Amino acid sequence: MKTLTLLSYAKLNLYLKVLNRREDGYHNIKTIFERISLCDTIIIKPRRDNKIKIFCDAPGVPVDSSNLAFRSARALREAGKVNYGADIKIIKRIPVGAGLGGGSSNAAAVLTGLNKLWRLNFSRKILARIAADIGSDVPFFIYDIPFGAGSGRGERIKPLAGLGNIVLWHIILMPKIKVSTPLIYDKWDAFSGLTSRTPGAKILTLALQKRSLPLISRALSNSLEMVTAKLYPQVNQAKEKLTQSGLKSCLMSGSGPAVFGIVSSRKEAVALSSRLGKGRMPFKIFAAKTV
Ligand code: C5P
Repeated sequence: MKTLTLLSYAKLNLYLKVLNRREDGYHNIKTIFERISLCDTIIIKPRRDNKIKIFCDAPGVPVDSSNLAFRSARALREAGKVNYGADIKIIKRIPVGAGLGGGSSNAAAVLTGLNKLWRLNFSRKILARIAADIGSDVPFFIYDIPFGAGSGRGERIKPLAGLGNIVLWHIILMPKIKVSTPLIYDKWDAFSGLTSRTPGAKILTLALQKRSLPLISRALSNSLEMVTAKLYPQVNQAKEKLTQSGLKSCLMSGSGPAVFGIVSSRKEAVALSSRLGKGRMPFKIFAAKTV
């Protein structure tokens, strides 16, 4: 039987504004996603029986029905009214509980992969609808685009037009802690007085269209950063580390705690990550680019 090997990319939120809490407990947000080269590998193999099995030896990744990859396979099977099985192996490189969308990206890779292997032929639009039930960040990864604007709870995606093939290079610092997204949104409610005035998503989009790194850096913004930083001082420590290294501007991604900065080239990203990697650091360091 055929085996499919897929790269499952991480994301950064270059912009994230929480608008309000909704009746269903979720929050309406406006966000700009960027897909980056940091990735997991997903190997999918159809089974002769109807079992769905997850294989992953990274600590902190469940291999039971709470894994989003498992839930994706099950949801796709229900949507397709089939009773097939699959072995899904996840080779983890994206840190877990980081704000980098690793679990969501794995879920999207499984939906796209099994759609092919099981010959279901669902359109991207239908896959995105199934993805939205798995998690708010999953649809972005279904669209196969480098930059997308998300609205609603983040699941309504519009590709960002007019960006050509702009590629940003990043340094990412990941404090060695895991952060729970529901906790951060709950605390946003409690601390909402903390929300500062933020520049609009439009300013960031224009900066991207102009390919101006100073303008992009100035327009980076995330309403959840102050909330996570108040609970976990490691977020500001990671930001300070980046600014001490000469980066003008850096930001937390999603609900954190990973923080990132923009650098001007691959060369700078590699040099900075090896410089930061010297000595004992309470962070994991990654260099990644737009893909
Ligand atoms: O959509 P997802 O399952 O990833 O969300 C996890 C949790 O994060 C939700 O149960 C909710 O508590 C919170 N959340 C939210 N508003 C969003 C996205 C997530 O309140 N837009």
